[in-house]
Amino acid sequence: MFPDTYTVDGHYHIAIGGVPIRQLAEEYGTPLYVLDYDTLIHRIQSFQESLREMNPPGQAFYAGKAFLSTAMAGLLKDQGMGLDVVSGGELYTALEAGMDPARVVFHGNVKTEDEIRMGLSRGVGYFVVDSLAELAAISRIAGELGEQAAILLRLTPGIEAHTHAFIQTGQFDSKFGFGMIDGIHEEALEQALRLPNLVLKGFHAHIGSQIFDEDPFVHNAQRLMEFMRVALERHRYWPDVLDIGGGFGVQYGPDDDPPQVPRILARVNETMRRLTPPGYPVPTVFIEPGRAIVAEAGVTIYQVRATKTVPGGRRYVAVDGGMGDNIRPALYQAAYVAQVDGKNPETPAGVYTIAGRYCESGDILVKDIALPEPEVGDYLAVYGTGAYNYAMASNYNRVPRPAVVLVDKARTVLWVKRESYEDLVRNDLPWRRPEEGRWR
Ligand code: LLP
Repeated sequence: MFPDTYTVDGHYHIAIGGVPIRQLAEEYGTPLYVLDYDTLIHRIQSFQESLREMNPPGQAFYAGKAFLSTAMAGLLKDQGMGLDVVSGGELYTALEAGMDPARVVFHGNVKTEDEIRMGLSRGVGYFVVDSLAELAAISRIAGELGEQAAILLRLTPGIEAHTHAFIQTGQFDSKFGFGMIDGIHEEALEQALRLPNLVLKGFHAHIGSQIFDEDPFVHNAQRLMEFMRVALERHRYWPDVLDIGGGFGVQYGPDDDPPQVPRILARVNETMRRLTPPGYPVPTVFIEPGRAIVAEAGVTIYQVRATKTVPGGRRYVAVDGGMGDNIRPALYQAAYVAQVDGKNPETPAGVYTIAGRYCESGDILVKDIALPEPEVGDYLAVYGTGAYNYAMASNYNRVPRPAVVLVDKARTVLWVKRESYEDLVRNDLPWRRPEEGRWR
């Protein structure tokens, strides 16, 4: 929930990475996304360590959809971690940061022809293929470019992990992947082996996001291994790679109990070793953690701009951000923990609802939270906002998106500049009357 370097002093002033949030707010403005370097590094390194302990060692591809910027891609590159991208834009960001394209996995249930071309010509490591149409398209475009495309097939194993329905992906009724129930996965396998210019490297299945149980991850590996044995018997095909996706849960609030990743990976490894037939190599495990690396490294700082108590007694605290910088409460009923800077959290003055500034009644950041009295001008910290906040931010109401700043050992470095009003109108063109003759 809190970043590793979170501290509170005797006056209840909060600091992250040794930098008081008041100082961050005054220097960079609010709302502000803050990322803690220590937390990011610890998470990345602990994934890397658990993967090294597997036999053969596994590999991690950070899911860029959780949070990506050129600086983040640069950090991943430094740390020797691969990247899972789902669009030309994410791939472009990785390449801008100088990331080795061979360490990139290209995901997504829709890839445009241009994106496939970009991936192939820039040399991405793997395409994760989601449909028969995409298989055919990659095969054809690779042929046109004189390339061979390394691919993984995305399978849907029919595992329903307990998480919000919007972020479940493993169940059969899903827009993602080839369902492992009606034979479509077998057809995909056959075509992947038959179509020219494709090199099938293995299989992928991602069962959902924010998962707390260990078992679904192990069942996923088991289902994929069973299919590998079918592939071996029917096609004499044995894969190099088994990609079990991401989805490792994190702590947003005190009741959340995240799973032990090292134990999951050890169990996955054990399952794979057990199910690999004698004489064949145990496939390499790929994982794609996003949230588990970046969520708890992130804190958003807001400033309280108004308070009101409405008939019925609900106390609203309105801040200068909201659904534009964090859509998750509105979209998934996601719950966040907040604190008022400079006030004792142990002595709450009441229960408050933190509302955003956007013109939408559903723009509520935190519902019913006990806090010391928030007053206009106070700074408010919301924790666990590193994943899927900046990444899903919008310009609704033409509010510029906040800056992202990295903190470490009492120092700060800007990762993403705050948007300006000029940025908002950058792609706008002026109104032209029909009679002006500029219409085409
Ligand atoms: N790999 C695949 C194929 C995925 O679809 C995802 C997430 C991940 C990896 C990374 O999952 P993570 O480790 O971050 O849980 N916007 C939603 C989350 C959507 C996740 C989509 N796929 C949210 O804010 O909760």
